[in-house]
Amino acid sequence: MNTIDDCHIIHFPRLSSDRNGNLTVADNLPFTVKRVYYIYDVPGGESRGEHAHYELFQTIVAASGSFTVILDDGTHRKRVFLNKPYEGLFLPPGIWHHLVDFASGSVVLSLNSAPYDENDYMRDYEQFIEYRRGNDAD
Ligand code: TYD
Repeated sequence: MNTIDDCHIIHFPRLSSDRNGNLTVADNLPFTVKRVYYIYDVPGGESRGEHAHYELFQTIVAASGSFTVILDDGTHRKRVFLNKPYEGLFLPPGIWHHLVDFASGSVVLSLNSAPYDENDYMRDYEQFIEYRRGNDAD
């Protein structure tokens, strides 16, 4: 099963030109993107997420603003602060994640390997821990 050490930052290419502003291309993901969603209008200091997936691969980007992702593999936890639109947090299946401490006006861009499927979610932490115990014992 994946651990928090399998979650890592992907650096996206940044194109510099004489144009105003910057442009980043997310063309170096280790999975094919089947779905993109974004989260916005989160009040400052609030949180989102708190779930894990059975199969889904994701990459989460702070397209604007900042927030912290708390990663949990059932044994260890770590916090990853995201505030750069040219960095994505690669998140494989089986990792509980909680997005906290939103700066007001932040935009979460989520790049996903599969269409939306509620059956792919673990939304109950105890259910997640039992799933991890069962699989980590193999
Ligand atoms: P949810 O997963 O609860 O948000 P969070 O990121 O805070 O955990 O999603 C909020 C609602 O949106 C929920 O009813 C499921 C729905 N939803 C879709 O219909 N399609 C999607 O692609 C996503 C990500 C969520």
